[in-house]
Amino acid sequence: EQATSQKLTELAKRRGYFFQSSSAYGGVGGFYTFGPQGAALKGNLEDAWRERFAVSEGNMEIDAPTIMPEPVFESSGHLDTFDDMLIECPECGESHRADHIVEDNTEYEDAESLPIPEVEEIVAEYELVCPSCGAGLAGQAIDDFNLMFATNIGPGDAQPGYLRPETAQGIFVEFPRLKEYARNTLPFGVTQIGRAYRNEISPRRSIIRTREFTQAELEYFIDPEDEGPDLSSVEDVSVRLYAVGEQQADDGSIRETTIGEAVADGTIADPWVGYFLGVSQEWYASVGVDMDRFRFRQHLAGERAHYASDCWDAESEIDGNWIEIAGFAHRGDYDLSKHAEGSGDRFTVFRQYDDPQTVERATVDPDMSYLGPEFGGDAGAVVDALEDLAVSDREAFEGEHVEIELAGESHEIPVEKTGFSVDEETIAGEHIIPHVIEPSFGVDRLLYTVLHHAYAEDEVAGEERTYLELEPEVAPTFVGVFPLQSDDDLEATAREIATELRAAGLSVTYDDSGNIGRRYRRQDEVGTPFCITVDYESLEDGTVTVRERDSTAQKRLPVDDLAETLAALRAG
Ligand code: GAP
Repeated sequence: EQATSQKLTELAKRRGYFFQSSSAYGGVGGFYTFGPQGAALKGNLEDAWRERFAVSEGNMEIDAPTIMPEPVFESSGHLDTFDDMLIECPECGESHRADHIVEDNTEYEDAESLPIPEVEEIVAEYELVCPSCGAGLAGQAIDDFNLMFATNIGPGDAQPGYLRPETAQGIFVEFPRLKEYARNTLPFGVTQIGRAYRNEISPRRSIIRTREFTQAELEYFIDPEDEGPDLSSVEDVSVRLYAVGEQQADDGSIRETTIGEAVADGTIADPWVGYFLGVSQEWYASVGVDMDRFRFRQHLAGERAHYASDCWDAESEIDGNWIEIAGFAHRGDYDLSKHAEGSGDRFTVFRQYDDPQTVERATVDPDMSYLGPEFGGDAGAVVDALEDLAVSDREAFEGEHVEIELAGESHEIPVEKTGFSVDEETIAGEHIIPHVIEPSFGVDRLLYTVLHHAYAEDEVAGEERTYLELEPEVAPTFVGVFPLQSDDDLEATAREIATELRAAGLSVTYDDSGNIGRRYRRQDEVGTPFCITVDYESLEDGTVTVRERDSTAQKRLPVDDLAETLAALRAG
């Protein structure tokens, strides 16, 4: 029995879903082109995502550039830490991910989180070999390999840039402007659907791990002290959770619970994360992910990205393996703080108090120029140091002298000369750095999952048939229109029907080549939910045959009712 993945890859190429790109030039690993059906399916999935996560949640959508300047990634941490472990085969020269080789061939499940020397020891101890040529890898040095694609902006190399490794950064860097559009009020969400690029060491498993892919991301900005979301719409959603602590269970069991319970008992620590897990599971089901082959898995500590304090993955089962199709990370204030520090811009939102508050504020004399000569003329540094001290340690001003440290030397200053005083002040609120909850979806992996879970085989009239049980809402072609046989009148009527249905907003394919059975099979393989056949009876009574893909049941319907009936079926 061929694995479904292999059969699907062949079907995808044959029917125009996706195929290796640039194959006229030999192709290069990790890049795929979506053909006509694939591009349409991808577009439909993106539209469905936009509808659910942007439009109906009241979130904004933006479209930022895919190339960004170096300082963005210095601040975000990607230049320093967005690395994978690279091991090169001494024999054939192929590069591989060392952590994958370890995970595939030993009992270690989270090799990515281990320090490089330890992974080198494991490679030697288990006598691990090159997956390409079988040569021994013991003793080979492992390097950190940064996954970002680098480029130069403009001529020369004065301004390095990088292709974004996640769409998220395009949202974070624009926060000072986006918060204005949200009228400085939390919570608010910003979405983006677009390409991300990672120079994966070993792209593998078809479109599951590629070097250019599409993400649909929501960055949801919250006040960490707010009470959280209203969970009533998702609390009863029953989920399969694979949480840290339960991950090592011998029987690999997955806990079945509800979002409400998992948030209440702390399994899902942040209610916002719980809310988005619930919304996402329902959405995944609506676009055709099989819920018996779906779960949420919490990241182990060592597995989390450099910015995440907690993370859950949505995973789908493909040929017996669980693959990550989305990540739900709590990014805290990591990104906005880093960009505030790196850019000097304001990445804060004003938190208004319910009632104005009176606070004590300690201040020092801002003009201490008379101290200049003693401190090498740098009175400003003295003021800064005293102000810091006034805020952090008010008691230091209770004696006769206060001690400060400048350039590693300590100095004593008479307290009376500092102008230290404590005043009362009424304030309406304070500037805070919002926290970020991030549902991050991979569109390519979703598309692959949807095709995989839709793949079906059966027998029709004694013949084997392959078909895709795609949800009508996302199916790339909604209806096929065929004349029963080669005949001018039948063809003209069928073409007219096709034009009418297109005008009603449906995606229609017209096909008059080959016998009718072959044409049905072709549309079954593409996953077209309905086919219409125009026959001689149609010319007499104005009815046509409508055939449903999964049951192959046929029904006669008046041509005049087709557009309305089919549009209602598409909307579900
Ligand atoms: N902004 C968060 C982020 O980028 P991630 O877990 O690295 O998190 C999010 O990526 C999603 O993007 C993944 O769940 C996966 O679906 C998709 N993805 C990541 N790397 C990919 C690759 N090399 N090929 C295809 N999809 C990928």
